[in-house]
Amino acid sequence: MWPLVRSVLFLLDAEHAHELTIGAIAAAPRAWGSLFTAAIGSVPSKPSRPFGVELANPIGLAAGLDKDGRAALFWPALGFGFVEVGTVTAHAQPGNERPRLFRLPDDRALINRMGFNNHGSQALADRLRALKDAGRWPRVPLGANIGKSKLTPNEDAAQDYVTSVTRLRGLADWFTVNVSSPNTPGLRDLQDKDVLARLLPAVKAAAGDTPVLLKLAPDLEDDAIGAAVDLAVEHGFAGVVATNTTITRTGLRTDPGQAGGLSGAPLRPLARAKIAVALKAAAGRIPIVGAGGVSEPEHARDLLALGCCAVQVYTGLIYEGPGLPARLVRAL
Ligand SMILES: Cc1cc2nc3c(=O)[nH]c(=O)nc-3n(C[C@H](O)[C@H](O)[C@H](O)COP(=O)(O)O)c2cc1C
Repeated sequence: MWPLVRSVLFLLDAEHAHELTIGAIAAAPRAWGSLFTAAIGSVPSKPSRPFGVELANPIGLAAGLDKDGRAALFWPALGFGFVEVGTVTAHAQPGNERPRLFRLPDDRALINRMGFNNHGSQALADRLRALKDAGRWPRVPLGANIGKSKLTPNEDAAQDYVTSVTRLRGLADWFTVNVSSPNTPGLRDLQDKDVLARLLPAVKAAAGDTPVLLKLAPDLEDDAIGAAVDLAVEHGFAGVVATNTTITRTGLRTDPGQAGGLSGAPLRPLARAKIAVALKAAAGRIPIVGAGGVSEPEHARDLLALGCCAVQVYTGLIYEGPGLPARLVRAL
């Protein structure tokens, strides 16, 4: 069934297909959820509590697919054990000019330069508050990924993150600090250790008891990954997510010559190598959530065997379809 649906969706421009899908789900998330639960069947419970949050299983939805949390109630129906919405920023913003999302089907990959298009952290907070008030909370943990608004200069970045975290406190089971998207000019400079040393304590203080994770780029040198992991430990962060998309183009058969972050199958070797670096630097002091090119049970098993506490998926879902999370969980 999925190959047929996918071939129809792939006739559309990538972002249009995405908007159509999220829009349809957002209009009736619980109805779609019941339909998919019936189609996919039950998914075994494999609970763990790696970063202070009780995950239903270690396969999660990566940030960026549901930036504004519009389909938050739906994702558990696919078997995800935890769901990350966002990236949201303190100011609502339109993102980069379109087209900004490109499929590379022969490479099972995507290139995106969305640029944090989102309705802002206040809109996400309002949406989550409404769900909470209506007693309609997703049945797996929900994290909020936070980025910096484009109009905020890097020297004011900490306040931008703190604003979003303060709005969302009590409405997310964890926060992920995103300093690793390649599509906001200068954002990845926030991964510099002197900058992180100021940013991390500010966010941690704003988050209070809510666990905070730090998400890193695969394009960082090994030393910089080690330094970021050390700082995350030092400032009481609960975990590190490795990795975001890459600006490199290694291993592509079909390079469309588009700027942006590459995800999916060609990212996997680089992500895996950088995850290994993060795990070594962490040395058991802080858990690592692995992401990058996971599209088969063997990939998820590999990252967990390497030492990751959990795994996140985005691009694999686009190519393999909605049955992927359940397939990954069942194979663990
Ligand atoms: C279209 C697209 C948009 C993304 N947006 C975000 C985002 O807003 N915030 C973020 O932290 N990561 C974002 N990511 C990165 C993913 O969360 C993930 O880290 C990365 O794609 C690697 O996993 P994958 O190969 O399974 O896609 C995005 C990825 C894609 C493909």
